[in-house]
Amino acid sequence: MSQFAYQNGVLHAEGVALNAIAEQYGTPTYVYSKAQLLGNFAAYADACAGRDALVCYAMKANSNLAILDLLARQGAGFDIVSGGELLRVIAAGGDPRKVIFSGVGKSVDEMRLALTHDILCFNVESIPELHRLNEVAGSMGKKARISLRVNPNVDAKTHPYIATGLKANKFGVAFSDALDTYRTAASLPHLDVCGIDCHIGSQLLDDAPLLEALDKLIELIDTLDAEGIHLHHLDIGGGLGVDYGEVGEGAPVAVGDYLGRLFRRVDAWRAERHGGKPIKVIFEPGRSIVGNTGVLLTRVEFLKHGEEKNFCIVDAAMNDMARPALYQAWMDMQPVVQSSAAGETFDVVGPICESGDWLARERALAVAPGDLLVMHTAGAYGMTMASNYNTRGRAAEVMVDGGQTHLVRRRETPQELFALESVLK
Ligand code: LLP
Repeated sequence: MSQFAYQNGVLHAEGVALNAIAEQYGTPTYVYSKAQLLGNFAAYADACAGRDALVCYAMKANSNLAILDLLARQGAGFDIVSGGELLRVIAAGGDPRKVIFSGVGKSVDEMRLALTHDILCFNVESIPELHRLNEVAGSMGKKARISLRVNPNVDAKTHPYIATGLKANKFGVAFSDALDTYRTAASLPHLDVCGIDCHIGSQLLDDAPLLEALDKLIELIDTLDAEGIHLHHLDIGGGLGVDYGEVGEGAPVAVGDYLGRLFRRVDAWRAERHGGKPIKVIFEPGRSIVGNTGVLLTRVEFLKHGEEKNFCIVDAAMNDMARPALYQAWMDMQPVVQSSAAGETFDVVGPICESGDWLARERALAVAPGDLLVMHTAGAYGMTMASNYNTRGRAAEVMVDGGQTHLVRRRETPQELFALESVLK
């Protein structure tokens, strides 16, 4: 059940009307539902109950400290891609020993920071990275736990910008090179080879490609076992999609169904081919935890009737939500107050000086200047991809908990945007 629903014709987040939030905090504002967040995490946690499994939330999707804190309290680990993200986990009270570190370009400083905090595992993506990590760990008198991100060459059937498991992608080690790369890793004295991982892409509606990737990882674990390289965990990455409401797209497979099928395969393999030995299963979900946890609340500034198109100009823009501009993503937009008036067809656009600054195209909307709109399912890759383009302060973020609102990030002031700059002396 969505925590964003109309009550008496007004869209609410849990028990709070969104027009009241706009009054109190202004617009544009990201509004999150605590209950939705916890419900989404619980779907993973419940499916993992009683198993050796860890859900490492991919915090690039939304790294607000309030979200990290709530997830950490539920026992979540975190998938990070920078030293900055690790510092956020620590600031939010998360446990660094439940952190895995992904990404193709980890710097020496980032490796050092992660080793200092004794993170669970580095997901290594290349041979040069293995050597760098070995050296850094050696210089600190430590051993770094590693997993290799292998590229299972599975077609995730998603947008090319967010498919990552194909041969042509920059990510991971080619499946055919994996064995040799593991041998190299096992020969390095300051590395502790403990896992295998992959991430084949994002916004997957079907779990078949994920299960196909799982089979390939399992095959490799068997091969490595025969070589004397024994892995303790397998990390299937993230990737499960959300329902953006686009006609013809359909809803994603339910988390419990996907995890159920995955665990059945893992159990069968362990019993039949792995001698019953344990293996920890790690997940790195981002979007499926926070996507439908948030909406972007915006106010209509003007309506403009052009020769070919009508424009609904709002106060949110591509700097607040980049997905439409970057990926031509379809995002659902609705008025906060329902109206029975006949609508017109609008392109919903922001105030930024670029034709690419649009949020939605060709939408039937009954709106007037001053009305409030929301963009649904904006909780993932919204605020984390926001910028200050056009010297626009980023949106405020508010979390609703039942009938209460909490400002979890205040709006930036224009002065803050240039406070770090200086002129020549
Ligand atoms: N693990 C790794 C290594 C990843 O690269 C990603 C996402 C995830 C996990 C989480 O994937 P998710 O469960 O959220 O699908 N900005 C794009 C999505 C980029 C995804 C990048 N990697 C968008 O707005 O659609």
